[in-house]
Amino acid sequence: MTNDPVDQNVSEPAAPDPAVMDRIVNLCKRRGIIFPSAEIYGGFRSTYDYGPIGVLMLRNVKDAWWRTMVQLRTDVLGLDASILSPPAVWEASGHLANFSDPLVDCTACKQRFRQDHLDDLSRCPGCGARDSFTEARQFNLMFKTHAGPVEESAAVAYLRPETAQGMFINFANVLNTSRKKPPFGIAQVGKSFRNEITPGNFVFRTREFEQMELEFFVPPDEAGQWYEYWCRERFDWYVRHGIAPAKLRLRAHDADELSHYSSGTSDVEFLFPWGWGELEGIANRGNYDLTQHATHSGADLSYFDQESKTRYVPHVIEPAAGATRSMMAFLIAAYDEEEVNGETRTVLRLHHRIAPFKVAVLPLSKKAPLVELSRQVLADIQPRWMADYDETQAIGRRYRRQDEIGTPYCVTVDFDSLEDRAVTVRERDSMAQERVPIDRLVAYLGERLI
Ligand code: GAP
Repeated sequence: MTNDPVDQNVSEPAAPDPAVMDRIVNLCKRRGIIFPSAEIYGGFRSTYDYGPIGVLMLRNVKDAWWRTMVQLRTDVLGLDASILSPPAVWEASGHLANFSDPLVDCTACKQRFRQDHLDDLSRCPGCGARDSFTEARQFNLMFKTHAGPVEESAAVAYLRPETAQGMFINFANVLNTSRKKPPFGIAQVGKSFRNEITPGNFVFRTREFEQMELEFFVPPDEAGQWYEYWCRERFDWYVRHGIAPAKLRLRAHDADELSHYSSGTSDVEFLFPWGWGELEGIANRGNYDLTQHATHSGADLSYFDQESKTRYVPHVIEPAAGATRSMMAFLIAAYDEEEVNGETRTVLRLHHRIAPFKVAVLPLSKKAPLVELSRQVLADIQPRWMADYDETQAIGRRYRRQDEIGTPYCVTVDFDSLEDRAVTVRERDSMAQERVPIDRLVAYLGERLI
């Protein structure tokens, strides 16, 4: 293995089990992780709602990214740009002209396909008809709307198809209001919208999704080394958050996959149950974006380096990840079933930082003194960690419910607790139990929930 990021590929792991996807989708519905959107009206085409457990997990994915990319660094600043923007932005970025997929219709069955997804251009995969396709038409993926009450062309606006352009058009704002100089980055997390022709595979490809993107601005002669740096960093981020390296690979784009301005792009891919799929792309974009916006807007988006007395347009290295897609990968990677005492235990072995709840407080019975003490224990925990509280059903069933949503620690308050002021802490993966004094509990959990 060399230092070249494209050589980080690992040997092929065992073939994935497609049936596991059905069980995960089922778990998501049953446990309030992800619901099909507008279900009471029959659903709405590949849109999803994140339920009480899912919203916590998705937030944790985004927080984990922000922590690594912004909080723990001094060279990256955050931004939250608008979702709506005028056509000028998308003209400059190239999205109006190029952000499209080639579509063909089958004249026999009237189904529509992405031409670049067809294996055989002479045979319809829907009805089997031969030579039934129309000429390909380019279909722009941006959602178009109108700002204000009049639907006239002057009021046209677009929902952003990526968060990236917000960083480019605010480059000068951020530079002028911070004390940063290249190399430095601007990071953003938020919703993006694409009118995908073939959404699918649960939340892998949806029309509304969340991205986590960094635009890292560098002196032109440092672009190559920063590209390699970010390829490694981003691959490692998924590993550090619990995905086995054997389920990940870094795949460099072939020359014919690269955009004309990109001198290198690598994808971090995850082994989904249906095969390898992209989680994130890391691209060396040159000075294309800032140059385009400078030309179209007339703004000066260059940087003057006082030390070398040179002016240049920074180059951009862009690690662009999907938050919703990553959450799905974390779910799949964590999903496990094992045999315990003749029963199947379903457990999400999520990294603590990604787990929706870090702790669950479980009184052994609903008797008043136990509930009162449990509420006190919960009150100690809640300011530090997201905690669940559950006093229904047998304790074994409650452990299983917490295992299913990946809660790392269950704290059981029993009748002995009233006497010895201690609780039983059960660890999710090993199911090992330990008696811990209540006044040591927060410290005990703090040592483990890092
Ligand atoms: N600014 C560059 C950019 O947006 P991209 O590869 O088109 O690059 C980055 O998108 C990431 O966003 C993808 O790797 C994927 O994780 C996520 N993403 C893109 N389209 C998506 C969709 N329709 N549904 C869910 N996630 C999507």
